[in-house]
Amino acid sequence: MNTVRLCFLASAAIWCASTASTTSPGVLSLIVSDLPGYHLPLYRRGGRHSVHQPFNITNIYAQREHAEGRYARVSTEADGNTIERHWRNGKDGVDEYLLSGAGAVGTWYTTIQVGKPPQTLEVDIDMLNPDFYSIMTTSGRGSKYNTFGNEGHAPSNNYVHPICRTPTDVFHLRSSASSPIRLTVPVCQPGKYSSHTLASSGTILGLAPPSSSRPLSRLSKTKTLLEQLQDENLIDHNIVSIALFDSTTGVLSLGGTIAALVEEVRIRAEKELTYLDRLDILEERAKMEAEIAGYMFFAMPPGSTHKDHFKWFDTSNMVAGWHQALVTGIWVNGVKVLKNQPVLFDINCPFIIAPADAAQTFYEATPGSRLLSSLVGDAEQQKQAQGFQVVPCLNEVKIEFELAGWRFPFGRGEAREDALFGPVGGRFSLGQVHIESGTNSSDEAVETGYCVGIVIGSTMGIRQDWSQSAMRNVWVLGEPFFRDTGVVFDMGDKKGKGGRIGVRVF
Ligand SMILES: *[C@@H]1O[C@H](CO)[C@@H](O)[C@H](O)[C@H]1NC(C)=O
Ligand SMILES: *[C@@H]1O[C@H](CO)[C@@H](O)[C@H](O)[C@H]1NC(C)=O
Repeated sequence: MNTVRLCFLASAAIWCASTASTTSPGVLSLIVSDLPGYHLPLYRRGGRHSVHQPFNITNIYAQREHAEGRYARVSTEADGNTIERHWRNGKDGVDEYLLSGAGAVGTWYTTIQVGKPPQTLEVDIDMLNPDFYSIMTTSGRGSKYNTFGNEGHAPSNNYVHPICRTPTDVFHLRSSASSPIRLTVPVCQPGKYSSHTLASSGTILGLAPPSSSRPLSRLSKTKTLLEQLQDENLIDHNIVSIALFDSTTGVLSLGGTIAALVEEVRIRAEKELTYLDRLDILEERAKMEAEIAGYMFFAMPPGSTHKDHFKWFDTSNMVAGWHQALVTGIWVNGVKVLKNQPVLFDINCPFIIAPADAAQTFYEATPGSRLLSSLVGDAEQQKQAQGFQVVPCLNEVKIEFELAGWRFPFGRGEAREDALFGPVGGRFSLGQVHIESGTNSSDEAVETGYCVGIVIGSTMGIRQDWSQSAMRNVWVLGEPFFRDTGVVFDMGDKKGKGGRIGVRVF
């Protein structure tokens, strides 16, 4: 385990991976090779979201437009007792979303070794669609799947979409030395004269829950990556889990979780601190190892599985198609301020988005808060400031999401990395507000004592584009939520029945 080079900041209660383990998938696959499932590295495109800079309203406003825009592409329909999401056709009936998603800044992606000789494929994860496919354009942008001179690639003339075929290739999901697995990865190529030839190449791994009617799948009669692994009996559980180490790295697990590893790293770090000055004494080290083993025996009893390691959200009675659940309570500084709120899990959203009225209730309970629009100057900025609220940068806001009788803290503690590179105001902050001083445009902007809160009011409830999307009353738990918790998506049985979402404090 010492060669593992995972580090853990016990004081901040946040663990992190050293550069050695995160830049080399090989090391990572080595350390998790005795856990069930496949464990792939996760990275955030473009680096960390919130940086040590003043709040820039133009920038953040555009990011919210982009984040919310992704939820406007669906509408809902009743199917028997359930309400399901399905794609709206774009202009001219073109399925723009199929080809436009790859390589965007802020997207989380993994890398997979594929082909013979093995090439590294960058694979964007997308929690809003269930399809696994590769986009090949001639634009030269993005990460291209190379079929030329690739002996693993077996072409196919089977079309699953007017522009997508289903070749297979060999995948090395553990390491390039492990025995490869032959999997289908549909390849979508826009026609020569289509404007989509300008889109980036890339590969998309959809992690949305499959369902029998598959309303959100654009590719007919194809299997998700998870289904393919199940069919080959390579995984026992129809689950996907995500564990973030810090603001730019993490692990994506297929068919398993790394909860046991996280738990062991955590207890080991604590014990090593206690035994710091005695670690070179053989008996003391043995004593420490015994304590760690004893702790692990109780924390993760032999024979226990992910089912025991996570607390589970009920996802029944939710609008189907995405990972949505019901949070029984939202707490601010120890007080329950909201009950029974539907939430959507989406790691590619950099914020926590709250329905406008819920955001209002939330900030009323947050001492010192006020509207961002009360601080900014011109009319354009006032308009953009809608939905954003500020709190004094020095105030600590304690947020907890309650489920199954447990309260899961959010924004707990600050890792050293956040303190060094993150915005003023800590994990709750999107940046400190600076304002122009007076009327003299040549003057420097001055700091206010206010920081913009990472919980932002949604505009989806009041705008036309979202009227069909069933997002009006839904929170979005984005990347900031994943920073504190390990999340498991249980996809249920083959028909998508019995799906649920598990959460564990990491
Ligand atoms: C704010 O962000 C926009 C868009 O990213 C950028 O063009 C602008 O220069 C930034 N403003 C400041 C004051 O940094
Ligand atoms: C604006 O700044 C300039 C240069 O610093 C200074 O000469 C001028 O008096 C200022 N004007 C006002 C209205 O403060």
